[in-house]
Amino acid sequence: MAIERHPGEPRPGALAVPAVRELSPYQPGKPISELERELGIHDIVKLASNENPFGPSPRTLAAMQAALGEVWLYPDGGSHALKQGLAQHLAADAARLTLGNGSNDLLVLLAQAFLTPGHSAVYSQYGFAIYPLVTRQTGARGIEVPALGRGTGMPLGHDLAAMAAAIEPDTRLVFIANPNNPTGTWAAPAAVKRLLERAPASTLVVLDEAYFEYGRLRGTQDGVAWLAEHPNLVILRTFSKAYGLAGARVGYAISHPSVADVLNRLRPAFNVNSLAQAGALAALADQAHMESAVSQTMHELTRVQAELKRLGLWTAPSAGNFLLLRLPTPAAPVYERLLRRGLIVRPLAGYGLRDCLRISIGLPADNDRLLVTLPQALVAGGAAAP
Ligand SMILES: Cc1ncc(COP(=O)(O)O)c(C=O)c1O
Repeated sequence: MAIERHPGEPRPGALAVPAVRELSPYQPGKPISELERELGIHDIVKLASNENPFGPSPRTLAAMQAALGEVWLYPDGGSHALKQGLAQHLAADAARLTLGNGSNDLLVLLAQAFLTPGHSAVYSQYGFAIYPLVTRQTGARGIEVPALGRGTGMPLGHDLAAMAAAIEPDTRLVFIANPNNPTGTWAAPAAVKRLLERAPASTLVVLDEAYFEYGRLRGTQDGVAWLAEHPNLVILRTFSKAYGLAGARVGYAISHPSVADVLNRLRPAFNVNSLAQAGALAALADQAHMESAVSQTMHELTRVQAELKRLGLWTAPSAGNFLLLRLPTPAAPVYERLLRRGLIVRPLAGYGLRDCLRISIGLPADNDRLLVTLPQALVAGGAAAP
């Protein structure tokens, strides 16, 4: 319900620091329950938040259920068992790890730890929307670098050479999403390596690999291999995507131990809850489940992309579990018509992409429904679903 305001009424919220007062909130994908409430419809498919509909493995769910018995206790604030599991999985020292309430938490912590109004951060046009948001929260200056153009092999993707050239003496963070959300585009290992070689020691390069497990099937590099040579590299990963644990909220940073030390001092003591810790540890031990979900998803991505092409629609090259789709008309009415037919996708007007939608890859039946429904929704006044 909207809050009614009267002239002259006190507004204590206005006491917030200017950088925070001026923020526009992040617009997440519409939850299924919200659409049910709004339209009174059921049988809704959400392809809007790049979740993994195969979900966590039975062993992961069993571990979370077992952890329920101790939910009255505070979690292990140091996430010891999960850190040990990750250290082994990554062949990296546990002192390099920081756990977060999703990797989004780590983006906020990085900005808080390294940015002030006297600093700047570099990110790409069409880069993940959280990068400008966390930068602005600190009052730092955002340097947005134009994306690669249509004529290139990776339209809408990060121009890493231009991003390296955009680094200024006050730049403390460079954000690279590989693959990137919402475009799905990715960077070749050699291009990332060149940026790492050009970035000065006074700048941290944040390599956000939220879609790493999908991207590596398209040849993206495992950034962990570069950590020894580049102490200013910070890699972010998450259990939200390939491991199917978006609702549990666990992500992690792998960095130089001195960066991990700073982030661990700054983070709230219990930022990863006990169910999430238990689930993530069990998920790590069940690689076969994750790999099967990833390979089925990438197989479906290829199929959906080919079908959309057959419909005469352009999609950006994608190494994530989603596609950016360009429409011949403004996307907002198409988005609304899809909603009325029980399909939630993501409009991208916030990125300045008014003729584009981002569509997550679902289960095969969900993708089939999209492929049947989209042509209907492209036609203004087309019949609504029964
Ligand atoms: C590129 C990228 N980075 C980070 C995140 C944050 O994910 P989480 O906080 O669930 O780990 C997302 C989520 O969509 C993403 O797309």
